[in-house]
Amino acid sequence: MRLDKFLSNMGTASRSEAAKAARGGLVTVNSVPCRDVSKHIDPERDVIYFNGKRVTYEKFRYILLNKPDGVVSATEDGRDKTVLDLLPAELRKFELFPCGRLDKHTLGLVLITDNGDLAHRLLAPKSHVTKKYRYESKFPLTDEEKRTLEEGTILDDGYETKPSEIELYDDRKSGTITLTEGKYHQIKRMFESVNNKITYLERITFGPLTLEGVPERGDWRYLTESEIEALEKHGKN
Ligand code: URA
Repeated sequence: MRLDKFLSNMGTASRSEAAKAARGGLVTVNSVPCRDVSKHIDPERDVIYFNGKRVTYEKFRYILLNKPDGVVSATEDGRDKTVLDLLPAELRKFELFPCGRLDKHTLGLVLITDNGDLAHRLLAPKSHVTKKYRYESKFPLTDEEKRTLEEGTILDDGYETKPSEIELYDDRKSGTITLTEGKYHQIKRMFESVNNKITYLERITFGPLTLEGVPERGDWRYLTESEIEALEKHGKN
């Protein structure tokens, strides 16, 4: 890969900034100043410094976003803002996409990546990645309705849901629900199957990921190395 492409892809400098810095002797490849940014480097083996700082190679990007209300989990949409529109312009050059979907009015944790292979494995039913949601419902849940939802309920299309776990708060109209699958509008349809209605929904975990570090709606951050490793493990099942 060309040195200027590498520096631009890693978000370090635009191609013209890279060329200028290299001419000024500020870019080194394996400790040797490199003044020609058209030079081809091996991103995984060569050691690159820019302005005294090491630039390490990241093959993929992994971003945790706290989705606000009204934003759609898509890469583009003619009408509504997408989760990608909430990220800075310099990330647009990557082929990022949300790993799984949240409804337009569901809030909370969305993983965004350009690692299609990992996303595919995490979304495969056999991975059983757990997703926990905080919810509010229109009516209180009875013990029997809670049991039905946990053991498996029949949705409007005849599908029987896999076991889930519900923690009910004292008002019985709010709590958390943990799923290991992700059918279309699943939680809303589960509550409809017991003649109830979801009035608030927020995803708070996705496998090993939590909303830590992104407290406000619209906040985003890169995953840590250990979070990426933990996700990889989930994707192996
Ligand atoms: N279940 C739903 O009904 N909506 C979501 O966004 C996620 C799970």
